[in-house]
Amino acid sequence: MKITITNSTKEFDITAAWRIIGQMLTNPQSVIGLSTGETTKEMHRIVSAIHREYPFDVSQVTLFNVDELTNLPREYAGSCYTMIKTQLAGPLSIPEENFIMPPTLSDDFQAEAREFERRLAERGGADLQMLGIGMNGHIGINQPGTPFESETWVSPMDPDFEARVRRETQVPADTILGGLTRGIRNIMHTRRVILIAKGAHKAEIIQKAIQGPVTTDIPASVIQLHPDCEVLLDPAAASLLG
Ligand code: GLP
Repeated sequence: MKITITNSTKEFDITAAWRIIGQMLTNPQSVIGLSTGETTKEMHRIVSAIHREYPFDVSQVTLFNVDELTNLPREYAGSCYTMIKTQLAGPLSIPEENFIMPPTLSDDFQAEAREFERRLAERGGADLQMLGIGMNGHIGINQPGTPFESETWVSPMDPDFEARVRRETQVPADTILGGLTRGIRNIMHTRRVILIAKGAHKAEIIQKAIQGPVTTDIPASVIQLHPDCEVLLDPAAASLLG
């Protein structure tokens, strides 16, 4: 596991952006997994800005997100589809067929999870996963306790995130919100993983995830076992590393 600690948050954002651009330039047919959230917004904006100023060929690149909300319309601004579409897939003009996302509404999410994986496998599987981390160590929406053997599935959301979604939308109270997420096994089968974190609020979980024991209590700790993994941090997120 390689650990990269940048000199500033700004340098973190540009470094993460260049990891994505580098992957696209090295292999123009790359299949790239993204994460939504505060950590990734700025890196996506930088990739889009560089591409606008200095266009390079992304016509064969495939993008997907590691997870997606379920039981909400896709058009909701908080869906991963809409976030990635607005932040990156749209600005890069990635054709719809090269933007692979599960639907947010379905009668059979287990079938959708299998179909999502089938479509990624059809393209040779994921080359790179830019992987965010939750405050409790979750990756994708694999919460603490998720077995490392888990395969793409529908997982409960963490309570804070669910409360936010409910506050910001008119989801009927009896609608069960969830998230379709790549399983830990699928994430581990990605050729290259970059775990990304910025901000002092992530310092404690980063220390536990990369310097503590590998345990299902902290799903992100599994990446210690990945053969091609980089942990990319800003100074605040790295501040508790020994
Ligand atoms: C959500 C997403 C994760 C993401 C995490 C971190 O739970 N499902 O994929 O990595 O949030 O988000 P943030 O970058 O906002 O801290």
